Amino acid sequence: MSQDLLNLLRDNGAFDPAPRHAELSDMHVPFDTLSGARNVEHALLAGLRAGNRIALLGASGSGKSSVVAYTLGPLVEGIFPIPVPVYPEPATVAGNGTEFVAHLVRTISRMLQATTPGLSRPAQQLEQRATAGGTGQRRHRISAGWRSAGLGPELAYELERAVSVPAPTAGQVLDQGRQILDLVAADGLVPILILDDTDRWLAATAPEIARVRREFFFTVPRLLAEDLGAAAVIAVHPEYLQDPGYQAAQGFLTDAIQVPAVPSAAAVGAVLARRVELARAAETPDVAEVFTPDALEVLYAHYTAWPSNIRRNILLPAHTALSLALDDGVDRIDEGHIMVAITS
Ligand SMILES: Nc1ncnc2c1ncn2[C@@H]1O[C@H](COP(=O)(O)OP(=O)(O)O)[C@@H](O)[C@H]1O
Ligand SMILES: [Mg+2]
Repeated sequence: MSQDLLNLLRDNGAFDPAPRHAELSDMHVPFDTLSGARNVEHALLAGLRAGNRIALLGASGSGKSSVVAYTLGPLVEGIFPIPVPVYPEPATVAGNGTEFVAHLVRTISRMLQATTPGLSRPAQQLEQRATAGGTGQRRHRISAGWRSAGLGPELAYELERAVSVPAPTAGQVLDQGRQILDLVAADGLVPILILDDTDRWLAATAPEIARVRREFFFTVPRLLAEDLGAAAVIAVHPEYLQDPGYQAAQGFLTDAIQVPAVPSAAAVGAVLARRVELARAAETPDVAEVFTPDALEVLYAHYTAWPSNIRRNILLPAHTALSLALDDGVDRIDEGHIMVAITS
């Protein structure tokens, strides 16, 4: 074995601690697989399909976004995931029901535009009529454009109409939000609101944090439960658990799922093996070609000292150690490289 594999991994940024969001799903090794239980990804999807509102608990870097990206990907049948961006929206969106719903409507409008590039509304209406006329070939061509969002052309058209209606009053905004979710549900899909990275709303400047967080948790879970009746997953940091706002939200959240820790050195190996597999496009990567068993043990011990931060305590040291091993001219990352990476 030469250094070729390590060079390839470095060139591909295989252990990049902060990959692009679009890559998270492919890189994810389900915690259910790592633990042999079905209490994370499986439970999350089952709960959301049942219409629940679920808090996904985990510290920064523990894998919340990764779990969500994997579990609620575009190819999962029967659901209509709606990632509600929390940035760069102002914090007022987080604490005001009407503004939150208006933001949701704008989000869906943008999703529709993104899934039908170059299709203006009049053109869409023409296509729609053609589709209604039942010319099989056209229908096929049109639906191919929507498929990535799990949308049929009729539903997309209905949604497009619903989001275009002006809603000047608070009551109308709420009705519009409800109507959109109803249209999705009537099409046999479960609309699921994804509120990931809420800390970006909640991490306003220091004196603001407590107020924004309180307003968010007092407003949004209740709105989702009582006014919209929507399934949702909300990423929650452990620090929020003591907040009066979060505690007040308990009655409106059906369930909480804790992102678990990676359970063993072998599981650390499985997470890293997935990255190796993606980088070299090989189906049966052997992580032992890249890390010595002791290297994985040291990584795992480091990770367990600061539980749950995969980004900072597994990927970042692995990423640094890869360069150190290449500098050393060896063909495997050993525990010495990991130890230097950890302390550097
Ligand atoms: N189960 C997992 N399998 C593989 N990689 C994971 C897993 N969980 C987390 N990661 C990786 O760890 C890093 C941090 O995960 P992320 O989901 O962004 O954490 P959080 O959203 O909780 O801050 C990402 O690079 C992600 O790819
Ligand atoms: Mg995240």
